[in-house]
Amino acid sequence: MKLSQLLVFVLTPSLALSFGDGLFCPRSNVKMLGPKSFKKALKANRTNLVAFVSPRCGHCQRMAPEYTKAADKLHPLVLTYAVDCDDEKNKPLCAEQQVQSFPTVKLFPRGNKLAPIAYESGNRTSNAFFSWTSKRIPSQVTKLSKVADMQSWIEKTQDETALLLLTKEKKVPLLWKVLANNYSGKLELAAHRDEDGKTTRLLGFEENTRVLVYPAGSSNPVKYEGKTKLEPLTKFFDSILDGTAGFKGPDGGSGRDEL
Ligand SMILES: *[C@@H]1O[C@H](CO)[C@@H](O)[C@H](O)[C@H]1NC(C)=O
Ligand SMILES: *[C@@H]1O[C@H](CO)[C@@H](O)[C@H](O)[C@H]1NC(C)=O
Ligand SMILES: *[C@@H]1O[C@H](CO)[C@@H](O)[C@H](O)[C@H]1NC(C)=O
Repeated sequence: MKLSQLLVFVLTPSLALSFGDGLFCPRSNVKMLGPKSFKKALKANRTNLVAFVSPRCGHCQRMAPEYTKAADKLHPLVLTYAVDCDDEKNKPLCAEQQVQSFPTVKLFPRGNKLAPIAYESGNRTSNAFFSWTSKRIPSQVTKLSKVADMQSWIEKTQDETALLLLTKEKKVPLLWKVLANNYSGKLELAAHRDEDGKTTRLLGFEENTRVLVYPAGSSNPVKYEGKTKLEPLTKFFDSILDGTAGFKGPDGGSGRDEL
């Protein structure tokens, strides 16, 4: 055997292995799934994006950096995964998911509780993945286009604490949709496009106000002072639910001092 042949022989198994994981950097936001971790990921009632790939397919190799970028943009709102369908142990899973060509990308809008949606477009850029995912996330956010709509929304949601997002964006931000899904039935979330800050001023708040809280039974809004990111908002929402947010009861107190 020539040395070069010997090298190929020796290196092939490890090369194949590093290729399998190598489509996506292990430290990236794309996590590789096997049959068990796939099941576990889908158990949680949240939105996941999964790419079923064959590391040898050219489309998959071209997609990988874009998919990774999309994962970075979606993290931590939507978790992004990949399954290597060349791996023997994943073959039943890929068959069960009816993977017929590579790559097959699917959105699981609510874990295993809603049917997955397949990504049909050949445009596999990070922007395309991101906007497709954002659009397909189930939204339970009430869109309040006009200031006049706010009063009736506040009255309708008297029984629960309601949170209004003031945004410059035309579309409801992904963050708000994800939070509305996670707190469905517990908190009411709405969004209002306030492009020039007019509504914010009209309501008597400073320009930088992003989230207004209407405590249950109250129509006096309180400003949320934290960052508009998933983790601090999740903490804040949990504190509303367990009563440690410090809102006073329905009979008037605004709770402003305690925030
Ligand atoms: C792919 O989709 C993105 C986002 O929608 C878009 O900006 C881009 O122009 C598209 N590219 C092609 C080649 O269609
Ligand atoms: C899953 O979450 C949605 C809101 O996103 C909720 O309506 C539904 O009841 C939840 N299902 C389960 C089984 O928890
Ligand atoms: C949903 O809320 C719970 C706490 O109420 C939190 O532990 C979990 O991380 C949240 N999930 C998402 C996707 O925000």
